[in-house]
Amino acid sequence: MITFDADTRRFHLAGDGFSHVFRILETGQLECLHFGARLDPAGPFEALERSFPLAYGSTTAVDATHPSLSLDLVRLEASPWGRGDYREPSLIVEDAQGDRTSDFRYTGHRIVDGKPLCPGVPGLYAGNDAGVETLEIDMEDRPRGLKLTLRYSVFPHCDAEVRWVCVSNSAQGPARLLSVSSLNADFGPGPFTLTTLDGAWIREYGVTRAPLVPGAREITSRRGVSSAAHAPFLLLEEPDTTETSGNAWAFTLVYSGNHRCRAEVSPHGLTRVQLGLDPLHFSWTLAPGESFESPEAVVVLSDRGRGPSSAKLHTLVRQHLVRGPWRDQARPLLANTWESFYFQFNAAKLVSAAQKAKDRGLELFVVDDGWFGKRDDDTSSLGDWIPDPKKLPRGLRPVAEKIKKLGLLFGIWVEPEMVSQNSDLARSHPDWIVQGPSHQPSPGRNQQVLDLTRPEVRTHLVDAMTRLLSSAPIDYVKWDMNRNLNDLWSPSFSPERQGEFAHRWVLGLYDVVGQITTRFPGILFENCASGGNRSDWGMLAYFHQTWLSDDTDAAERPIIQHGASFFLPPSVWGAHVSAGPNHQVLRRTSLEARFDAAAFGLVGYELDLAVLTPAERTIIDKQVLWYKDLRLCLQFGTYHRLVAPGANKTTACLTVSSDKTRAVAAWFGGLAQPNVLPQTLVLRGLDPGAVYKVEARPQATDIRPFGDLIKQALPLPLKLNGVLYTLVADRYLMPLEAPVFRARGDLLMTAGLPLTRPFHGTGAAAGILLGGDFTSQIFVLTQEVSP
Ligand code: GLA
Repeated sequence: MITFDADTRRFHLAGDGFSHVFRILETGQLECLHFGARLDPAGPFEALERSFPLAYGSTTAVDATHPSLSLDLVRLEASPWGRGDYREPSLIVEDAQGDRTSDFRYTGHRIVDGKPLCPGVPGLYAGNDAGVETLEIDMEDRPRGLKLTLRYSVFPHCDAEVRWVCVSNSAQGPARLLSVSSLNADFGPGPFTLTTLDGAWIREYGVTRAPLVPGAREITSRRGVSSAAHAPFLLLEEPDTTETSGNAWAFTLVYSGNHRCRAEVSPHGLTRVQLGLDPLHFSWTLAPGESFESPEAVVVLSDRGRGPSSAKLHTLVRQHLVRGPWRDQARPLLANTWESFYFQFNAAKLVSAAQKAKDRGLELFVVDDGWFGKRDDDTSSLGDWIPDPKKLPRGLRPVAEKIKKLGLLFGIWVEPEMVSQNSDLARSHPDWIVQGPSHQPSPGRNQQVLDLTRPEVRTHLVDAMTRLLSSAPIDYVKWDMNRNLNDLWSPSFSPERQGEFAHRWVLGLYDVVGQITTRFPGILFENCASGGNRSDWGMLAYFHQTWLSDDTDAAERPIIQHGASFFLPPSVWGAHVSAGPNHQVLRRTSLEARFDAAAFGLVGYELDLAVLTPAERTIIDKQVLWYKDLRLCLQFGTYHRLVAPGANKTTACLTVSSDKTRAVAAWFGGLAQPNVLPQTLVLRGLDPGAVYKVEARPQATDIRPFGDLIKQALPLPLKLNGVLYTLVADRYLMPLEAPVFRARGDLLMTAGLPLTRPFHGTGAAAGILLGGDFTSQIFVLTQEVSP
């Protein structure tokens, strides 16, 4: 609900659980009075207002008629540079005279139903939520002929605001934007704690939490993509906020390029949060009459801890960001060829692997990198999106048709934004490569970036992808992007516009993916960028899911997913079971643990299904059946972080179906602890009055983890790794302890769910979980129907 009180010139933006109150100052700036827990819209709100009777020493006044008002001491909704606020400005505009001083003042506003979408820029949509409203506030810097519109869309059921700004030039001469934040949120005195998601390739989404101190904490991407280094996400909390209590404000940007997210504590203890374009490689010329729309930023508020702030972001992604027929559909279990074959396959091998996938109950077969051009390694062929005549002599269609005849969906991998130097495309259009006028462009993964700021390059890509996706019955596309941008320059702009390159490139990408996803609405698209180098909300406005990380190790993945869950829901996490030892860290973990880690996302198998032992086949068959039964809950349920990863990599999580009748809880044990008592997992989000049947997911193991010790347990004289040992290990499965019991929701949410007693060195017995490092346990909770 958005209201405006004309007498007091106060706005009140309210969701189910939050209130944002701000007023128009006499001088025309907008002062934030409250952005926190919900207040009764009836007010009165006078107690939120402060007067400015006298100037504070050494401050600069906003103007001569208000000598006691210094904007440096005010919580502002927007703070363009220039009227005495010395914190980071939310906007810097230089006019034709080179003047950067702005003075934007309120001129009017509108409250409209729903949420407008800006063409060419990814955005959230209101959909069926009739409660969504948008406030647009116009401000003007009259002397300079510049206009600023602040937009606030309120999603009341998610306690969310979507915010973005538009700057227009109505002057006679050009103006230049030098810095634009989509969102500026000023908070009163802290202290506050800031959480960011930081990492790198194969260790995305590390959680960094630190108290804010005077000065700024800033994360940026200058890589042309939103990046695995710092996800475009901030979580501001009070110091004692936990998963379940206290105030938490979670912010993200609906953007896939260079970003800056920062929090600054002023000398007077005011905290300013901003999200927007990174100014380092940015400037944008506005010719007279032109406007600039910033990307959207999102903030959700929870007064019950950071857990609900994530859940609200998850709902926004599921219901107001992801689009198209796949949005609410159960996602197919897939087989992917990358870590099974890398570049080495042919048509017969693919069809045979697809048959194996079908035998295991999988539903979608994805041919990853290596099917096109002459792509036998990563040094060639990107850009030549035609099947490799050596590997697929009759093209994609016959292979796809054979695979579809098996009853599987068919998918392929592409990396359209890129070009290999060694490709027909680079040879015929060398000028399409992003490069400066003076240097050879720097390579990354042996490849170059196509200049998507150029319309002819975008047209080529859309045509090439349209041809490809029409050439065979393709149900799924993994759209990859495996390098950062560099050498930012394009011959298509004048020198003074080169600062527009990075943003124009991202807008070019949105144009391409927007056209392709509109032309092929039935295809399920998975976003990828060397894993999670571009897993942001911008891409999710076009693609249905995202490959979170190239790291599929059973110990690392739950930790990566824990971090990602701060702003991405499991309904978008591609998560695969891969081979052991793991290809990223060479760690050996059990097939069961690898599955448990993947089970909380959109499961696939990325290992050679032809070399499985009979025992492994049996394990996978059971996993697949189990996942099919529970996947709606796992993919679309409410996700809870239960235990944050500790030094020994233990973590735990839970997913509860929306009607609370089913839930799945997981404990990832990390490094085995000697001689410890079993732990309990305190659950959340269940129906406190309902009785649940709790069943551990049945797991099995072969004898290998026990090495020589197995001689103590089996009556056979087995020589370690001998013929008989191997024969038994390949075929014989020992079931692991899988307790079943009943408990009421209130008990599980207070006393907790008892985990199985871990192996503690004195032998095997009923009631002991025979697992070592990185053993996991999953429990399925099913509400019992009252008689
Ligand atoms: C990237 C992806 C991988 C795989 C390879 C193929 O690294 O993240 O999953 O598709 O490219 O080259």
